Parts: sequence; structure tokens; C-alpha cells
Amino acid sequence: MTAPRKLHIKSYGCQMNVYDAQRMVDTLAPEGFVETANADDADLVILNTCHIREKASEKVYSELGRLRTAKDEAARNGREMKIAVAGCVAQAEGSEIIRRAPVVDVVVGPQSYHHLPQLLAKAKTDGRAVETEFPVEDKFASLPDPKPAMIRARGISSFVTVQEGCDKFCTFCVVPYTRGMEVSRPVARIVDDVKRLADNGVREITLIGQNVNAFHGEGENGKPWSLGQLLHRLADIPGIVRLRYSTSHPRDVDEALIEAHRDIPAVMPFVHLPVQSGSDRILEAMNRKHTAADYARTVERFRKVREDIAFSSDFIVGFPGETEEDFSATLALVRQISYAGAYSFKYSPRPGTPAADMQETVTTTVMDERLARLQELIDSQQAAFNAAVIGKTVDVLFERAARNPGQIVGRTAYLQPAHVMASPDIIGQVLPVAVESLERYSLIGALAGADVSPVSSPKISQPANTSLSAMTTGA
Ligand code: 5AD
Ligand code: SF4
Repeated sequence: MTAPRKLHIKSYGCQMNVYDAQRMVDTLAPEGFVETANADDADLVILNTCHIREKASEKVYSELGRLRTAKDEAARNGREMKIAVAGCVAQAEGSEIIRRAPVVDVVVGPQSYHHLPQLLAKAKTDGRAVETEFPVEDKFASLPDPKPAMIRARGISSFVTVQEGCDKFCTFCVVPYTRGMEVSRPVARIVDDVKRLADNGVREITLIGQNVNAFHGEGENGKPWSLGQLLHRLADIPGIVRLRYSTSHPRDVDEALIEAHRDIPAVMPFVHLPVQSGSDRILEAMNRKHTAADYARTVERFRKVREDIAFSSDFIVGFPGETEEDFSATLALVRQISYAGAYSFKYSPRPGTPAADMQETVTTTVMDERLARLQELIDSQQAAFNAAVIGKTVDVLFERAARNPGQIVGRTAYLQPAHVMASPDIIGQVLPVAVESLERYSLIGALAGADVSPVSSPKISQPANTSLSAMTTGA
């Protein structure tokens, strides 16, 4: 038997890249690859890249510089290190990567990573291999299923891709170019994936897609199903106690989705619904095809059926033409909606997008200042949202042992981390927690009803997370 080969994957950007990285591990496992946390002793390093903003794409080239040293060092020690660039920068800049970075052996776009074994073989014979096509076949159909032990090791919460790509063409966004046109997976395949995950201990599923509520995959009756219908079907799978979905577009919120929040207890009352701007003029220039009032009405439709629902959003400041008045409209919308959290970004022109040809009018200084003002408002809303839970009893899905002995960490419906002292047996269960205090973004409490002696109040052992999970891309 040959020794296992070591694989290191570094992912940037959105949740889909996190998911894709896991599927790359599953694809390479039958080839004898096992994951290592250390790039320097890996036989294969994959950079799973993000192209959404300039800063994100530039990271690839600086990381490749570092890897060149590691690759040279490996060669000096008689070891071969292969380097692959995957993800959206690979898709958008495949030929440039090959030109600029001779250290790269394989370039593979997000629609082709199921071909990694063949591409590695090709790189061995031909020196280098590149694949950035949008193949017609469904990559998910040809990916090996994750092994039960692998699913268990990944924990009780899992992402599942249900759709990819986007046809919305917001003028600032590269997604329609890097991830291609909107494609939804068939319901039966998604159900198979979720059953396999649930059978191996997964309790929470986050359905992911760049435009997840544009989902229209073939249903079990042969007709296209909406995301609402899919959520109903998945809620029936034994073991699944929580369902989430990300990222949604305000224009694709239909009645079935609203009703899913009303009728399915497993569907969590926390929705990431990016609006980008509160100014109708800017929304139009962004090609969002809705107004700020349309967005507020959509939020109200959700709130009508679930009064405890909370929202997060993405914002861009400094889009070409954004005046102080436009920016004030964004602040006004944020005040009107009141968010549990949000991501805000400085506009970054992306090559090939319509906005990249627009005259930039907002200086970096003004962008910085608007970003700071927006973040301050969002932070205050997030702090108030988190503080409101102190003294209340809330349901927490327990995920894992924390670093401090005896401490278990889970998440509330709103993804707030919550720490209690308890037995690891509670991992995978949803239990009520009496929240005592808030330490940065984490809730500290005790299992409600449990006979907990306050010997030592749990201290947070990991860096406090925001109430939102990984950065999202899309919609
Ligand atoms: N500049 C700045 N932010 C962007 N986003 C997408 N494209 C750009 C860009 N060119 C943001 C949007 C999107 C999030 C994932 O990234 O807010 O919702
Ligand atoms: Fe599509 Fe979202 Fe990008 Fe707009 S911002 S083009 S909806 S992925």
C-alpha cells in the first residue's frame, strides 16, 4: 500500500467555497489524499479562490508567492509539491494565472473540480493542466459521496448546494461570469444528500446557492419545485431539526417561501436578504430591479408570518454616482429594517462588469467614512439584538465541545454562539438555554431546568464569532 498523500486546501470567500472544498476532499480521498492543516508539508495545495472584490483576488498572487518558497523547499528535500488554483479567480483569470505564476500546476474552475484526479494526472504528463469550461454534465452527479466517517468528523451542521450561478447581472457583480447561469439541482439528489448527512449525525442543513431562492429544481413529481416546496420535503427527513438557506434575492421571495417560514418549525427565523443600497437611484444603477420600498415590503411579508424573524444583509458603499443623499437613504433603510447583523463593503470595480465602465465618483476617503458610519449603525443594531436575549431562555443546537474543559458550544436560531457547561452528550440536540450574559458576540448561559452548580462560569475559549457565519456570496 502506498503512503497517503497530504492535501491542504485553503478557501477564501463565501460558504459555497467552504462546501466546494469539502467536496474536493471527497473527490481526492479515493486517490489516497488525506487532509493536512499545514501547507508546507502537503503534496498538493489547493487555493480555492474568491473573485468578488479586488482585495479577495489579489490574495491569490501573494499566497502563490509564499507557496513558491514552500515548493522549492520541498523540491530541495526530494519531495514534489503540486499547486492547484480552484474557485472563481481560476475561472476568471485562468490564462493570466498560468502566465503570471509558473509555480501553478493545475487551474480548475468551480464547475470542473470533479475532474481534479484527471487534471492532476495530466499535469504529471504534460507539466500543467487547465480546465475552466462550464461543462454540460452535472458535476454533483459525478462527485463521490462523502464517507460516513468524514461526515461525522465535519460535525452536526452542514452546507448543501442546491443551485449555482445567477442570471440577475447586478452591474457590480462577477458572479454571473464566474459561476455561470443559474442552474438548480434535482430535488431527488438533494434529498439523497440530506438523508445521507442526517443518517450520519447531521442535524442542521444550510441550503446554499448564489441565488438560492431562485431555486427551481426538478421535483419528485417531475415539475419544477420552488425553494419553499424543497424546504417542506427536507423537513420530513428524520433527524433534520434546523433548515436555513443563503443567499436570497429580494425579487425571488415568493409566497411558498414566506409560508415555509409560517408552517415549518425547522425553518429558522433568520434570513440573509441583501439589499446593497437604500437609494432607489443607486438600486437602479445596480440593476437590482427593485426599490427600497419593495424591499421593506418583502421584509414585512416575512414579519407578518413570523414576528420573531430577523434579517441580515449586504451593503455596498461608494457605488459610482453615490451621493451623500443616496448614502443617507441607505442609513434610513437600515434604521427602518433594524438588522441582526450585516456585511458592508466598499465598492470595488470588477473587470468585465458593466459598473467597471462607469465613472467612479466617490473618493477612497469618502468611501472609508461612509463605511465606518454604516458599520457603526449596524454594530449598534447587532449589539442591541444580542443584548435583548440576556435573561431569556432560547433554543440552542449544540455543535461541539469548546476548548475549555466541560464547555459545550452551540448556536441559537440567529446563529449567535452560546456556551454552557454540560456533558458532550448534548451535542446534536436542541435544548433551552437560560442566557445569563453576553461576552462580545457569544451568549453565556446554563441549560434551562438543569441542576447546574455555578462552580465556574464558562469562559469563551475561542475567538468570539459574529452572529453571522462565513461570508456569503451572491444575491
Ligand atoms: N464591490 C463591492 N462589493 C461587492 N459585492 C459583490 N460585488 C461587489 C463589488 N464589485 C458584495 C455584495 C454581495 C456580497 C457577497 O459582496 O454586497 O452581496
Ligand atoms: Fe446575482 Fe447576487 Fe451577484 Fe446580483 S449580487 S449578480 S443577484 S450573485
